[in-house]
Amino acid sequence: MKRVAILISGGGSNMVSLVEDMARDSFAEPVLVLANNPDAGGLEKAAARGIPTVCIDHRPFKGDRKAFEAELHKALSAANPDIVCLAGFMRILTPDFINKWAGKMLNIHPSILPLFRGLHTHQRALEAGMCVHGCTVHEVTGELDGGPILGQAVIPVLAGDTAGDLAARLLPFEHKLYPAVLRKFATGERTPTQILG
Ligand code: GAR
Repeated sequence: MKRVAILISGGGSNMVSLVEDMARDSFAEPVLVLANNPDAGGLEKAAARGIPTVCIDHRPFKGDRKAFEAELHKALSAANPDIVCLAGFMRILTPDFINKWAGKMLNIHPSILPLFRGLHTHQRALEAGMCVHGCTVHEVTGELDGGPILGQAVIPVLAGDTAGDLAARLLPFEHKLYPAVLRKFATGERTPTQILG
């Protein structure tokens, strides 16, 4: 059974979708939920499900990424995960840190990568006049939102959609895509996962 650590910054709905899928059978187990933000709602959700949680607040490090990542690495290493899932983790990680988890780290990003790396993806998709939008699960490399793509879900952009509408309509597809990709990744399978909404 693969050991999975999940890094979050906020509500943790993707984390919950991963955890609930792991609970359905025994292909993997969540061994740690780690947040960089003490107010992350996902911490309580994880604790309520009996998953060990750790919070490493990035703010006292005052921009010293190396020192923050050293603590992150210590906590992660102690949990000894086979796979690390970034699930709404909103800190940029340095290549040095990422290299320590090379081949083991996944991320979900709310756009059809390689379009719209970074922030404000829903607004940017609207401004670009996209007819479709989506989310991507990819392997994490030193390039921001740039690693090999493992799966994507695509939804239509509807007339009158706001960024909030798109985010809300996309989220349930994130919740389908990420567990589906994790299941395959845990068994070493890398065939693409495609979900059309
Ligand atoms: C999700 O929409 C995820 O795709 C996005 O943050 C949200 C987290 O929601 N991630 C990024 O923007 C990463 N760059 P959640 O905390 O409810 O899972």
